[in-house]
Amino acid sequence: MAIERTFSIIKPDATARDLTGAINATIETAGLRIVAQKRVRMTREQAETFYAVHRQRPFFGELVATMTSGPVVVQVLEGNNAIAAYRDLMGATDPAKAAPGTIRKLYAKSIGENSVHGSDAADTAVQEIAQFFSGNEIVG
Ligand code: CDP
Ligand code: MG
Repeated sequence: MAIERTFSIIKPDATARDLTGAINATIETAGLRIVAQKRVRMTREQAETFYAVHRQRPFFGELVATMTSGPVVVQVLEGNNAIAAYRDLMGATDPAKAAPGTIRKLYAKSIGENSVHGSDAADTAVQEIAQFFSGNEIVG
């Protein structure tokens, strides 16, 4: 198994309910190490860039509004197969379809307010990490 890094966001619906610690506990219990973390308020430009792949989707405007509605915690997670492992831990995009024990099953309010983001592939992980962290902010 390869040691990988993935990018995570604890979204505004979760920071509003002070779930950062609870979510971080599930991340660490799953064997992923938080090797970088900061709490920031995303600008509209940052959110539009981050979700540019969804620009043509009907939910794009709402997605950008939601992501900029409050603080987020951006993170880099490291571990064995971290990208797939974190996607598994997050659960399905729609919390109604998420498996028991996943972060989204436990905490998400709806498909739009689904508590966490995780990179979906190696190339997007590299790109997403670079949007928010410089090399010396990541300490493995
Ligand atoms: O976050 P994930 O990779 O699981 O899903 P996505 O398909 O990449 O969509 C990005 C985000 O857009 C989701 O996490 C949802 O917050 C939002 N979304 C939505 O509001 N309505 C949809 N029908 C699909 C996605
Ligand atoms: Mg995605």
